Amino acid sequence: MISRWCEFGNRDTSLRTQVVIIGAGPAGLLLSRLLSLKGIDNAVLERRSRAHVESRIRAGVLEPGTVELLIAARVADRMRREALTHDGFNLVFDGRYTHVDLKDLAGAPVTVYGQTEITQDLVAACLAANTKLVFEAEAVTPCDFEGATPRVTYAKDGQSHEIACDFIAGCDGFHGVCRASVPPAAITLYERVLPFGWLGMLTETRPVADELIYVRHERGFALCSMRSKTRSRYYVQVPDSDHVEAWPDARFWDELRRRIPGDAAERLITGPSLEKSIAPIRSFVAEPMRFGRLFLAGDAAHIVPPTGAKGLNLAAADAGALAQALASYYGSGEGMALESYSETRLRHVWRAERFSWWFTQMTHRFEGDAFATRLQQAEFDAVSGSRAFRTALAENYIGMFRDKSPS
Ligand code: FAD
Ligand code: DHB
Repeated sequence: MISRWCEFGNRDTSLRTQVVIIGAGPAGLLLSRLLSLKGIDNAVLERRSRAHVESRIRAGVLEPGTVELLIAARVADRMRREALTHDGFNLVFDGRYTHVDLKDLAGAPVTVYGQTEITQDLVAACLAANTKLVFEAEAVTPCDFEGATPRVTYAKDGQSHEIACDFIAGCDGFHGVCRASVPPAAITLYERVLPFGWLGMLTETRPVADELIYVRHERGFALCSMRSKTRSRYYVQVPDSDHVEAWPDARFWDELRRRIPGDAAERLITGPSLEKSIAPIRSFVAEPMRFGRLFLAGDAAHIVPPTGAKGLNLAAADAGALAQALASYYGSGEGMALESYSETRLRHVWRAERFSWWFTQMTHRFEGDAFATRLQQAEFDAVSGSRAFRTALAENYIGMFRDKSPS
C-alpha cells in the first residue's frame, strides 16, 4: 500500500546511508549532529531553502535538558557567549504580580536563546562535518519502512534521487510527509484546537523587564519575552479568525500596553516590527511514534500550545532519545532500546501536553465562559499563595519530569 507512493521511475542517482532524516528543523538537525558524533552515517533532506530554515522566528526559552543536549552536540559555544540566563519569571493576574523563582523552587534556571540561533549553529556544525544536508529537496517520500529495507526518494534540480537506509527519522514538523505516509489504521491522533492564536512581534527594542512576564488580562493573554538584552518578543492572544494584516505595529503596541501591568507599560519601548505572525493554538499527539523503521520526532508527532515554551524543548528531547536508541542499536552507545523509544517519549510528551494545556487554561481569555474565569482566579490564588503550587509550576517549566518514568 505504502509503496504505491514510492514509484519514482527514472532514478538518476542512488545512495546508501544508515539513517535518513527528513526535515532540517531543530529535531532533525540535532539528531543529525548527535548521530554523526556517534559515528552513525546520516543524510538530512529539507524541503525549504537554507535561508528560510535559518530565519524562521519561533521559540526562545530552553530547558536545562535542551542546553545539555546542545552541549553534547558541540554547538554550544555561541550560546554560552550570547544566551541569557533567567532564574525566574513573572505571572500577572489582572495587574497583580506573582514571581516564580525557578532556581529556588526547582533548582535550575532556563536559558533564553532563539530557535533561529540554534538552527544556524546546527546547520553550520553539520556542514563543517560534511554531513549530507540537502536543502530544497522536492517530493521527499519515505518508502518501505514497514520492511527491512527502507528508502527515501526525492528530487533536486530536476533530478530524481533515492537513498537506501536502515532507518528513517520523520522530523518534518506538523505538516510533513512522514506522519501522513503511515496507514491511518496504524496511527491514533489526539487533538484539541483552541479558538484563538498568538500574534507575535519581534522588535529591536530593549525588553520591558529582565525576566519574562506572562499576563492574564480580561482583554486576553499577553507575554513579554525577549531574545537578547536589545531584542524583544511580545505576544498577544487574538481570535483565530484574525489576520496579521489587521495588526499594524501601532495597533499591536496599543493592545499590548493595555494588557500588561502599569509599571511595565510605562517602561515599554516601541519600535518597528522585524517579524509579525499568528501561531494557532493546538494540542496534538500522534501515537505511536514508531512505525517499523520510521520514527517520528518533534512537531511531526506532537504539538503543544505555546504557553510554557515546550515545543522546541520536546523536539530536542525526542532527538536526544532517538540518537541514544540508534546508538545502542548500532553498538556505539548505551541507552534505551529502539523498542522503548515510542513509549518512553510519549510519557514525557503527555506530561508536557498536560502542563501546556493547564498553563494555557489559566492564562487565556475564554470568551463567554464566566465559570472558567472564576477558576482562573482560584488557580492564581493557589499559585501565588502556595509554595507547593509554585514548585509544581517551576518543575514543569524547567522540564524536570524529562525522561523520568512516572512514580
Ligand atoms: P519544525 O521546526 O517544524 O521543522 C520541520 C522541518 O521539516 C522544517 O524545516 C520543514 O520545512 C521541513 N519539512 C516539512 N515537510 C517536509 C517535507 N515533506 N520534506 C522535507 N522537509 C520537510 N515553540 C515554543 O516553544 N515557543 C514558541 O514561541 C513557539 N512559536 C511557534 C510559532 C510557530 C508559527 C510555529 C509553527 C511553532 C512555534 N513553536 C514555538 C513550536 C516550536 O517552534 C516547534 O515545536 C519546533 O520548531 C519543532 O521543531 P521540529 O524540528 O520538530 O519541527
Ligand atoms: C516564548 C514563547 C513561549 O511560548 C513562552 O512560553 C515563552 C517565551 C518566546 O517566543 O520567547
